Amino acid sequence: MKVAILSTAPTCYSTMRLRQAAADRGHTVKVLNTLRFAIELQHGEPDLYFRDKHLSDYDAILPRIGASITYFGTAVVRQFEQMDVYTPNSSNGITTSRDKLRSLQILSRHDIGIPHTTFVRDRADVLPAIERLGGAPVIIKILEGTQGVGVILAETTKVAEAILETLQSAKQNVLVQRFVAESKGKDIRAFVVGDRVVAAMRRVAQGDEFRSNVHRGGQAEPVELDASFQETAVRAAQIMGLRIAGVDMLESKEGPQVMEVNSSPGLEGIETTTGLDVAGVIIDYMADQVSFPELDIRQRLTVSKGYGVVDLHVREGLELVGKTIVESGLRERDIVVLNLTKGTTVISNPKGTRVIEAGDRLLCYGKLDAMRDLIPARQDRKRRRPKIQQLSPETIAEMGGKQS
Ligand SMILES: Nc1ncnc2c1ncn2[C@@H]1O[C@H](COP(=O)(O)OP(=O)(O)O)[C@@H](O)[C@H]1O
Ligand SMILES: [Mg+2]
Repeated sequence: MKVAILSTAPTCYSTMRLRQAAADRGHTVKVLNTLRFAIELQHGEPDLYFRDKHLSDYDAILPRIGASITYFGTAVVRQFEQMDVYTPNSSNGITTSRDKLRSLQILSRHDIGIPHTTFVRDRADVLPAIERLGGAPVIIKILEGTQGVGVILAETTKVAEAILETLQSAKQNVLVQRFVAESKGKDIRAFVVGDRVVAAMRRVAQGDEFRSNVHRGGQAEPVELDASFQETAVRAAQIMGLRIAGVDMLESKEGPQVMEVNSSPGLEGIETTTGLDVAGVIIDYMADQVSFPELDIRQRLTVSKGYGVVDLHVREGLELVGKTIVESGLRERDIVVLNLTKGTTVISNPKGTRVIEAGDRLLCYGKLDAMRDLIPARQDRKRRRPKIQQLSPETIAEMGGKQS
C-alpha cells in the first residue's frame, strides 16, 4: 500500500517507528507535515495540495494529529475521507475524543464504565453537583487537557469551588469528576488496534502525585488485562470511531472506568514497557483494511430521498411481537433489519428466523413512510423516548460500535 503518515514531528519516536515498520513491510510510506496541506473545494471534486503540488494518490493515511492543531488536522483528515482514502481514525472520532466531556457524553449511553462526572455552569449548581458525586475530594479537569496538565485534585468542597471559580473566570470549561481513590494513583493504558487490545500497561504515579501520566513521572509496567478491561477498551474505541486508540482506564471498585480515549497514542512508552512491536501491528492492520475497506455507513445510507435508518422500539401490542423477521413482513415492505438488540446483546444482521419480542430494538433501514406505518399513532405525548426515532449520523456510528 501507499501510506502517508500525517505528522508535524517527523523525528519523534512514534513517527519514526511507524515509518520504519511500513518500509520494512515493503509499503511506500511518506511522512507529510499536516500543516502543509491545502484543502481544495470545488463542485464534486474534493482535492488536496501538499506544499503547492497536487497530491498524488494514496491508499491510506495514518493521522497523528497533535492537540494544538486539532481543527486544521481534522479538516485535512476529513478531506482525505471525502476523497475515499482509508483512515483508521475518522475525523469525527479525533474531534470527539479530544474533548473529555463530549467523549463521556457519548460513552455514557453505552454499557461502559466511566467515572461519575458532572458539568455545570452556574455557581449555584456547583455544590449540589459535588454532593451528587459523593462529596470531596473530587477531580476537576479542563476539557481539552493532555499529559496530566489541567487535572486537579480538590481535597475539600471549598477548594473545589475556588478552583472552579478561578478556571471559569479564565474562560476554561471544566468538568468535575468523582475521585476514584481506590485506583491509588494507578491507571491502565490499553492500546487498541482494530477490535483487539494489542498491548497494555499499568502506570503508577510516584510519591504523593495522584496522576499517573508518564509526563508527570509515572512509572509503567506491562500488564495482562482481564476480559472486562479488554472489552471495555475495544468498545470505547469503536464507539468513538477510532480503530487505533490509547484507552485510559481506572481500576475502580466497580471495574474498568474509561477516563479518556486518545486518538494519537504515543508508541514509545507502550513499546518500551511491553517489548511489543505495536507499530508493526498498526501497519499490518491498515494494510488489511486497505485491501478490504469497511464502508462508512453514515455517509452512504441516508442519501436516497425518503429512505433512512430508524431505531424501532418494539412495544407490547405491536403486530411484530412474537413473529420471526421473515413472518413480520418487514422484508416485503423493503425494510432491512441491520441490528436486533435484546437487552444488552446486539445481534448484527439477524437471521430471518429470529423472533421479535416486546422490549427489543430494531435498527432498520428502509423507506421512512413504510417504517412509520409500523407504529400506531402515538397516544402518550409525554413519553421521553419516541417509539420510533430517526437517527442522526453520530448515533448510527455509535450504534455500529455497540456490539456484544
Ligand atoms: N477521576 C479520577 N480519579 C482518580 N484519578 C484520576 C481521575 N481522573 C484522572 N486521574 C489521574 O489523572 C491522570 C490524568 O487524567 P486524564 O483524564 O487522563 O487527563 P490527561 O488527558 O491530561 O492525561 C490519569 O492518568 C489518572 O492517573
Ligand atoms: Mg490521560
